[in-house]
Amino acid sequence: METNIIERLDRSKLPQHIAIIMDGNGRWAKERGKLRVFGHKKGVESVRDIIEGVLDLGIPYLTLYTFSTENWNRPKLEVAALMELLVSSIAKETKIMLDKGVKLNAIGNLEQLPTKALNSLHRSIAQTAENTKCTLTLALSYSSRSEIAQAAKALAQLVKEGDLDVDAIDEQLLNQHLQTYPLPEPELMIRTSGEQRISNYLLWQLAYAELYFTPTLWPDFRRNDLYQAILEYQKRERRFGLTSEQVK
Ligand code: IPE
Ligand code: IPE
Ligand code: MG
Repeated sequence: METNIIERLDRSKLPQHIAIIMDGNGRWAKERGKLRVFGHKKGVESVRDIIEGVLDLGIPYLTLYTFSTENWNRPKLEVAALMELLVSSIAKETKIMLDKGVKLNAIGNLEQLPTKALNSLHRSIAQTAENTKCTLTLALSYSSRSEIAQAAKALAQLVKEGDLDVDAIDEQLLNQHLQTYPLPEPELMIRTSGEQRISNYLLWQLAYAELYFTPTLWPDFRRNDLYQAILEYQKRERRFGLTSEQVK
């Protein structure tokens, strides 16, 4: 029998930040002749399991693409159901996050969220603020292009007010004005459901991430699938523009 996959992982070579595009809830439900919302509900169970998996390995940062700005254009009923699910899940999961040392964080155009969702989000973020084991960032109403444009705007404003010299603008400064700051860059980005695209997710931050695509639909994605992705990540040679000889 195959040894437990978690035991095959090199603990000294774990990514410190994993970003995931949780995709395929709708198709998962459709395959079962159910409404899309059913898939979203099932997807919450995967979120719980993946957080457990990340905690087991001691990975300090996990970022989940939960809702994109583009997703606002979905049918009204689906959007409403997703927002309801967000509120109920946060309420339920906060206790678990407190027990396990998970600190909740959120990025995106949060002001677009319904008041109820925003309030429960802020409450949970405040309640878990002192936790240190893992930072769980939810990308909500998130658009990477919008995030970058807002950073550019903030820098322009500083220049306009005479608080910043144009020549002082560099990659580091722009990075510091992204919503993800001060999170480290994800080393591994996983997308479920077989789609091989970025869909406006962390465009700047993923510049050198290893990308892992799996046909598994999000509601079926569990910690063993996560370990499989990390195993694959550990086989990659991250060269950062150098030659293979240089990095060896
Ligand atoms: C991901 O699953 C969840 C969100 C985007 C909110 P989808 O709802 O995109 O599922 P598919 O891609 O239609 O199967
Ligand atoms: C990306 O999934 C957004 C989230 C997973 C939250 P989508 O299903 O919205 O992406 P596209 O439309 O297939 O690119
Ligand atoms: Mg999708």
